[in-house]
Amino acid sequence: MRLVFVGAPGVGKGTQAKRLEQQFGWTVVATGDLLRAAIAQQTTLGRQAQAYIQRGELVPDSLVNDLVAERIRQLDSFILDGYPRNLSQAETLETMLDSPLDAVVLFDLDEDRLIQRLSGRRVCPACGAVFHIVANPSQRGEQCDRCEAQLVVREDDKPETIRNRMRVFREQTEPLVAFYEERGLLRRVCADGTPDEVYQRLLEAIHTT
Ligand code: AP5
Repeated sequence: MRLVFVGAPGVGKGTQAKRLEQQFGWTVVATGDLLRAAIAQQTTLGRQAQAYIQRGELVPDSLVNDLVAERIRQLDSFILDGYPRNLSQAETLETMLDSPLDAVVLFDLDEDRLIQRLSGRRVCPACGAVFHIVANPSQRGEQCDRCEAQLVVREDDKPETIRNRMRVFREQTEPLVAFYEERGLLRRVCADGTPDEVYQRLLEAIHTT
């Protein structure tokens, strides 16, 4: 299975992608996670990407395209979480694939709920686990219940950066909806409700049930 996940910041793409990976073994390629790992390691890519992420802007296509091409080359099944994010990346992705995508899942949620999800998110800087202070709290409070590290707020989850990420999504990523609709690949999933409810809808949308 070759899937692309599209949706506004905080809609739950990462949460749902990890569930599919656990159930079916399809590898999640999440460009945000790869870029944050590069920043943490202060690689050349990480140093180039850092300022864009801090401002909530897209990292230049040339950096992200290479990163994805390298990751998916050996994979038969994958879930692209957060890539492509504009039309140019979508066109580049088509040139990378030797067989077409199976589906592009668009997660829908209203902006008030997106902000609730982003403002309550806590992440583990050590193992990458993602929590929410209300919907999915760590059993250890402000510590990760997997590895006990102190949880943090993602640097781009500050209110002013969230606003910019929403604007970038509307202006640069939403045109992908028409692009993939024309190709008959788009599947809409309502992202309201519990993670279990959303996951059930996702399975139906990609016809695995
Ligand atoms: P990225 O990391 O991809 O951020 P994003 O797309 O803004 O998405 P998020 O990770 O914020 O949210 P999500 O939809 O995965 O939600 P999650 O599951 O965590 O990208 C970050 C930055 O990197 C970009 O701004 C850009 O600078 C750069 N970048 C990345 N890709 C790029 C590209 N292709 N080109 C250029 N630049 C790129 O859930 C959110 C919260 O809600 C969590 O707390 C979770 O526990 C909770 N939650 C999840 N589901 C539910 C539910 N059903 N009910 C209640 N709470 C829920």
